[in-house]
Amino acid sequence: MRRGFFVTFEGVDGCGKSTQAELLANRLRGEGRSVVVTREPGGGTIPEKIRALLLDPCNSEMVNECELLLYLAARAQHVREKIFPALEEGAIIICDRFQEATFAYQGFGRKVPIAILRQMNSFATGDLDPDLTFIFDLPIERAFERLTSVKKPIDRLEANGPDFFKRVRNGYRSVAGATPHRITILDGTLPLEVLAEKVYAIMIEKLKDTLIFKIK
Ligand SMILES: Nc1ncnc2c1ncn2[C@@H]1O[C@H](COP(=O)(O)OP(=O)(O)O)[C@@H](O)[C@H]1O
Ligand SMILES: [Mg+2]
Repeated sequence: MRRGFFVTFEGVDGCGKSTQAELLANRLRGEGRSVVVTREPGGGTIPEKIRALLLDPCNSEMVNECELLLYLAARAQHVREKIFPALEEGAIIICDRFQEATFAYQGFGRKVPIAILRQMNSFATGDLDPDLTFIFDLPIERAFERLTSVKKPIDRLEANGPDFFKRVRNGYRSVAGATPHRITILDGTLPLEVLAEKVYAIMIEKLKDTLIFKIK
C-alpha cells in the first residue's frame, strides 16, 4: 500500500525549484514529518551517472531519442530504488523535476509527440503519478537573469537558445492546463517567502486528504 505523499517541483532553470523544495522540506521536518528530498535526473548512483551524461556540454552530438531514453532510464531506476520505497515507508517525497519536465522539454522543446511521451513515461514510472505538482512560471528572460548572477559553467541543456526555452515554458503551461486537479501553476516572479507560503498552504490542504497524515 502507498502510504506516503509525492510532490514534484517543476519549471525552467532559475524559476526557484531548489529554493522552494528546501524551504518546504525544512518546514515539514520542523513539524516532525519524515521528508525525502530528491531530484531528476538523479537521486541515486546510476541516475546520477546518467545525469552527468545528460548535462555534459561535451555531449553536444546527443540525438533527441538518446536524450529522451536516458532521462527515462534514470527515472525508471530512481522510482524503483528510491521513490517507491520511501512512499511505502510513509514519507513525503519532494522531487525537483519529474515527468512534467519530460513533457515540457522533450515534448514541447524537442517536439517529440506527447502521446508517445506519455506512454513511454508510464512504462518508466510504473504508472506512478505525483500526488501534487507545482510549476513556477516566469518569463525566460527573468530566469536567465537570475542564473547569470550565480554563474557556473553552462551545461548541455542550457546551451539551447531562447526559442527552445520559450517552447518549454509554454509546454509547462500547457501540461498544467491539462491537469488542473494535480498541477498548480504559481507566479515564479513573486518574492520567495510569498511563494513558500502558498506552496505550504496547498501542500497541507492536499495532505489532509491523505489518510496517514490525518492521524498526525
Ligand atoms: N521567488 C524568487 N525571487 C527572486 N529570486 C529567486 C526566487 N526564487 C529563487 N530565486 C533565486 O534565483 C536563483 C535560482 O533559484 P533556484 O531555486 O536555484 O532555481 P531552480 O532550482 O529552479 O533552477 C537563486 O539564486 C535563487 O536564490
Ligand atoms: Mg535547482
